[in-house]
Amino acid sequence: MKICTTIRETRAACRDARQGNKRVGLVPTMGALHEGHLSLVRAARAQCDAVAVSIFVNPTQFGPQEDLARYPRSFELDREFLEKEGVDILFAPSAEEIYPKGEITWVTVEGLSDKLDGRSRPGHFRGVTTVVAKLFNIVEPDAAFFGQKDAAQAAVIRRMVRDLNFSVEIVVCPIVREPDGLAMSSRNAYLNPEERRRALALRSSLLRVEQEFHGGERNAAQLMAVAKEVFAREPQVRVDYIEIVNPDTLDPVQQIAEPTLVAVAAYVGTTRLIDNVVLNPNGGKS
Ligand code: PAJ
Repeated sequence: MKICTTIRETRAACRDARQGNKRVGLVPTMGALHEGHLSLVRAARAQCDAVAVSIFVNPTQFGPQEDLARYPRSFELDREFLEKEGVDILFAPSAEEIYPKGEITWVTVEGLSDKLDGRSRPGHFRGVTTVVAKLFNIVEPDAAFFGQKDAAQAAVIRRMVRDLNFSVEIVVCPIVREPDGLAMSSRNAYLNPEERRRALALRSSLLRVEQEFHGGERNAAQLMAVAKEVFAREPQVRVDYIEIVNPDTLDPVQQIAEPTLVAVAAYVGTTRLIDNVVLNPNGGKS
């Protein structure tokens, strides 16, 4: 595995990897890798000839009161995981390499960026789209792999790619969970045992919604009420949002007639966690 810290080296390595019409896959991450991240690497491995992974804790997507300074970092372990997965190129730049002083061009997906997590985390998606656009320009991947865990992020990136005519296929992979159902996240490391138990409220609320849906309920307000009941039983978990929306526009849906995203975000202690499920009235597996 070639480890690159500069844009220049990365461009050269990706150019080499592409030789002979090879298909290059990119998996953007912020490190502290877990099975969720590795599932994206494996999908990239299966669908591409060469795999590039980026590890960059992107400062522009963290708000001033957020956890940038204490975000978990485990580079050596991450490197070993990626080596084992047969990754070809690891791009691990410094903040200065990505954001040289004075740099001020932003990529913003207007409207979409203010919904779901964008509403609770102003500026978050602008930071995400700016860094992902940069990574696309540096690596020039044929395909890029993202997780359904961050469903709003996937919608914003799909829209950016469409609106700015990036020549990259966006592949969204299923949520990987702990055995008890908690969605894997680098931020789960912040939870103490008590919080770790309470964090299951996110998954339980979605399972209850799914159960009602499979029982025939199609009204979003009714489904939302069911999710709220689950959270009401866990008062130490503070709901940030429960939303039932179109997976592409992120606009609220009243009556479920097409595949619909049910997304939740909640604070467990000071840790903000998210999870979601797609309800498919046409019976397809979501
Ligand atoms: P990060 O949180 O490190 O996640 C990197 C990728 O892994 C994202 O596409 C995310 O959706 C996916 N992922 C995380 N947990 C997952 C799980 N349990 N199952 C499946 N996929 C999972 O998302 C980011 O980094 C950043 O915003 C980034 C896109 C790298 C831009 O900085």
